[in-house]
Amino acid sequence: MSFLHISSSPRGTDSESLRIARVFTDAYTESHPGSEVEQWDLWGSPLPDMALGATAKMTVFGGGTPVGAEGEVWAQARATFERFAAADRVLFSVPMWNAGIPYVLKQFVDVVSQPGWIFGVDPVTGYRHLLADRGTRVAVIYTSAVWGPGLGPEFGRDFQSTYFDDWLRWTGLTDISEIRFHPTLTGDRAAEDAAAFARARDIAKTF
Ligand SMILES: Cc1cc2nc3c(=O)[nH]c(=O)nc-3n(C[C@H](O)[C@H](O)[C@H](O)COP(=O)(O)O)c2cc1C
Repeated sequence: MSFLHISSSPRGTDSESLRIARVFTDAYTESHPGSEVEQWDLWGSPLPDMALGATAKMTVFGGGTPVGAEGEVWAQARATFERFAAADRVLFSVPMWNAGIPYVLKQFVDVVSQPGWIFGVDPVTGYRHLLADRGTRVAVIYTSAVWGPGLGPEFGRDFQSTYFDDWLRWTGLTDISEIRFHPTLTGDRAAEDAAAFARARDIAKTF
């Protein structure tokens, strides 16, 4: 089993999502002797630039083949997709940014979500989900600081997990476990911490 952790917080040792991810990956390696965890920090090296990538995508949609600079960025997008799609187990760590996901993760989504790779589309029946039925399992760590389940819209709204979960399912990845850390401004951080750690360990053991 290949295990890939895709992280989207730039906050290093201060990061809450990375702290929970560490508990997850430690529990995973402990319960899967001989396994290795590949770390992919989305802030670590630039993702392909989708200014040209968007043009390449429309070339492909139109049945053509991107060439020149378009072709180069298309090849980089393909390599990015392949790294992601090759993993049997994928852990995403996802902080809430302005009610949504960090832009680097959105860039990742926009780079890999290409026709023939992630999706097909039929004018009558709609989308096909090309990562379905591969046995890939996904776990996602969602964190936020102000928003939390049960709070009213005055504390913001959750377009983070709603968007990202919808994207995963659209790709065909439907075996998804969630670990949440939403201490809110008045919540019990220690209790939230303990619950997130326990859930991370629990899921990791049988991941
Ligand atoms: C740019 C930015 C935007 C944020 N926007 C929100 C937000 O809209 N709602 C919220 O509840 N928390 C928001 N937060 C707080 C983070 O979601 C929260 O602290 C999270 O646990 C950070 O994860 P990290 O420590 O792994 O980076 C934001 C933080 C940053 C840095």
